Amino acid sequence: MRKKIVAGNWKMNTTFDEGEALVKGIVSLKAGVAADVTLVVAPPFTHLNCLAEDLEKAGVGLSAQNCANHESGAYTGEVSAKMLASVGAKYCILGHSERREYYGETNATLAEKVALVLQNNLIPIFCVGEKLAEREANRHFEVVKSQLEVVLNLSADDFAKIVIAYEPVWAIGTGKTATSAQAQEIHAFIRKTLSEKFAAAAEQTSILYGGSCNPKNAAELFAQPDVDGGLIGGAALVAENFIAIAQSF
Ligand code: 13P
Repeated sequence: MRKKIVAGNWKMNTTFDEGEALVKGIVSLKAGVAADVTLVVAPPFTHLNCLAEDLEKAGVGLSAQNCANHESGAYTGEVSAKMLASVGAKYCILGHSERREYYGETNATLAEKVALVLQNNLIPIFCVGEKLAEREANRHFEVVKSQLEVVLNLSADDFAKIVIAYEPVWAIGTGKTATSAQAQEIHAFIRKTLSEKFAAAAEQTSILYGGSCNPKNAAELFAQPDVDGGLIGGAALVAENFIAIAQSF
């Protein structure tokens, strides 16, 4: 059985007090979520240390949204995977389309980040997804396949630890969700691509859908055989909505 995961990517939202209140809300509602669903929240760096204890007690995974592609040293403004592990993070989102687009992340830098995250015993939530023009040109399979190269180069042991998130750029923050058929088609393609290298392990890889996922459309998306949960942006900023999505399996 693949792990069902609902992860909230808060992006650059919430002051510390707002983040603390959001965690309290999620923790207070968590009992309504099935025990086989793993909840993860990814607040901004500044909040991680102080939120870790409450989340750990509640059995909610703590994730960062990014990390440095270097181990340590003179990289002003950067945060290392080791630092994230030291404050209780268990996951790290990597390769989000906003990082690829606005901060120039490439397969080469992402390969370094994935390696560091794994070395520090964090689970990478590795994001892939095509832009609108790429889908319209019917290039989405090719684009996603080239993004997956980073994880296809891992050892079998490391590959078995990762989570994939498929997030079509045209669906992020736009209110335009992929249809469940579109999501299933590309999730199945992702699994097939992974299984060509990692036959048995790819069957166990959780592949999350992200992009305007909300309490209304989550059930249909999560009912698809290759959709194992969601990476949620806007709807993860309201505890009731985040929990309602987690109840949609
Ligand atoms: P939205 O749910 O706001 O579309 O964002 C999705 C996303 O980018 C999660 O990482």
